[in-house]
Amino acid sequence: MPFRISPKRLLAGALFPRYSRFIDKLNRNALFLDFARANTATPLYDGRLEMFDDVIGRIGDGPIDYLEFGVWKGESIRYWSGKNAHPDSRFFGFDTFTGLPEDWDFRPAGTFNVEGHVPTIDDRRVSFVPGLFQRTLPDFLADFQPHNRLVLHLDADLYSATMYVLARLHHLITPGTILIFDEFGDVQHEFRAYHDYVASHIRECRTLCGSFQFYTAAFEVAA
Ligand SMILES: C[S@@+](CC[C@H](N)C(=O)[O-])C[C@H]1O[C@@H](n2cnc3c(N)ncnc32)[C@H](O)[C@@H]1O
Repeated sequence: MPFRISPKRLLAGALFPRYSRFIDKLNRNALFLDFARANTATPLYDGRLEMFDDVIGRIGDGPIDYLEFGVWKGESIRYWSGKNAHPDSRFFGFDTFTGLPEDWDFRPAGTFNVEGHVPTIDDRRVSFVPGLFQRTLPDFLADFQPHNRLVLHLDADLYSATMYVLARLHHLITPGTILIFDEFGDVQHEFRAYHDYVASHIRECRTLCGSFQFYTAAFEVAA
């Protein structure tokens, strides 16, 4: 069959010959505004620690399996392990520990490089999985048995990493699972990953709270 491209597509290509990040961002911004308008009754805080405290309060004192994707120097995993004292809780931190594997907006690959040093947290419940998620997660999941309510803290900044983690963990994400996005307001990255995951995996999530006008956001999976 001869190769043909429809006149409509050619016209669109003549008007916009190259991919426009700007137009893409504008479109996704409209989706973000739809989300914000649909969630006007959701508690919003000035800082992410207050948002974490809200989520921690909702979870209560029970044991959790907390998986954090994007650890850097360990500030957020240290906070969470300090707040949940249950002896059966487990905290896993995943990171290259050599920084972002690709450019993220104006931040070049390698940003957040800590030269392979994992944070020192004096708590036997906390462990780290160094390496690219796309390389380490399959082996981790081969051994991982969920024991407790799952809390996924998605703080890798990038669309690729966030989308990969959500899709790869889909079988463990059940009603009651908590999803936290640290850069939810980045419409081309974490917001897009959330949007694509929910749409492609037919998920329903309840918005719990946010901070910085939904720059960060927390959800509970409903179905
Ligand atoms: C903003 S930092 C995390 C900050 C940390 N949660 C905190 O609050 O202090 C983002 C981290 O994601 C990591 N990261 C991004 N994509 C990754 C991937 N595909 N595999 C492993 N680590 C990744 C980077 O190395 C970086 O350290």
